[in-house]
Amino acid sequence: MENLLKQIESHKSEIAAFSATDANAVEEFRIKYLGTKGLVKAIMGEMKNVAPENKKEAGQLLNEFKLFVENKFDTLKESTANGQQASANAIDLSLPGDTLPIGSRHPVVLMRNRIVSIFQRLGFAVADGPEIEDDWHNFGALNLPEHHPARDMQDTFYIQQNPDWVLRTHTSNVQIREMEKGKLPIRVVIPGRVYRNETVSARSHCFFHQVEGLYIDENVSFADLKQTLYFFVKEMYGKDVKVRFRPSYFPFTEPSAEMDVSCFICGGSGCNICKKTGWVEILGCGMVHPNVLTNCGIDPNKYTGFAFGMGIERPAMLKYGINDIRLFSENDVRFLKQFTSAI
Ligand code: PHE
Repeated sequence: MENLLKQIESHKSEIAAFSATDANAVEEFRIKYLGTKGLVKAIMGEMKNVAPENKKEAGQLLNEFKLFVENKFDTLKESTANGQQASANAIDLSLPGDTLPIGSRHPVVLMRNRIVSIFQRLGFAVADGPEIEDDWHNFGALNLPEHHPARDMQDTFYIQQNPDWVLRTHTSNVQIREMEKGKLPIRVVIPGRVYRNETVSARSHCFFHQVEGLYIDENVSFADLKQTLYFFVKEMYGKDVKVRFRPSYFPFTEPSAEMDVSCFICGGSGCNICKKTGWVEILGCGMVHPNVLTNCGIDPNKYTGFAFGMGIERPAMLKYGINDIRLFSENDVRFLKQFTSAI
């Protein structure tokens, strides 16, 4: 009997200390202690050696022992099941994260940023203004009075409810808004969207983007205009590109010019892009007309200035080899994702 007690005690401490981290170990435990050839069965077999007067007590002890082992088995089973569940729910930090689609910059924005950053290096600030504009800022103040034939140069969207409002046809309206602020000198570039009532095709759209430039100070000359634009062309198209100015007409500048650069596709020998002329038109420019300065309360005898305006889509089409202007606004991700997110 005493012998039996001792055996049970030593097995109990061994069993209490048993730990299992997975289902295999739990199964090992079951076989070792509760299996048909296991310890519990073996100890039960000891009953036959117990003296008859002790049998009752021994039976109780053995039953307790059996319960103890079964409880331990249940606990082990439960804890490893929980453990496995817990590790299944745990966050695995070594897994790659969910990837979110990363956008890229729109080609018009890429080109706009390039243009603007070149002028920023010359000390130009960035300004903007409204796309829905009144007649005075879009036309009148720019020396384009009502019924002036030059208004025909820009087919305009008028707004029915208010005939005084238009969708701006150029970014030149912001020239006026900057001059009206009454702070001189002015040195700004004005990127923005403009609207013209043109038939939509691969080459023209009813809206597009421009970058305008305006510089007003004492003693600003045409030489300053040319030098500024030379710098721009060299930065934008490289030092080997040639520049030419052709006399032109804009009501708000006098004298006015259009600036061409030698075709950067064929190098000037003539191709489809430059329509075999060797030149590509880039922008319109000129010295701000004295009437415009007067309209904005600036004394034209004291101050002079230059202005220029260029489209963004055309140079972007040339740079990226885009053959249809409509692609810019169709929002087709297959088109948009081809551009890097740089700049
Ligand atoms: N606003 C003119 C256009 O849209 C461009 C321009 C701007 C010309 C400034 C001269 C000076 O065609």
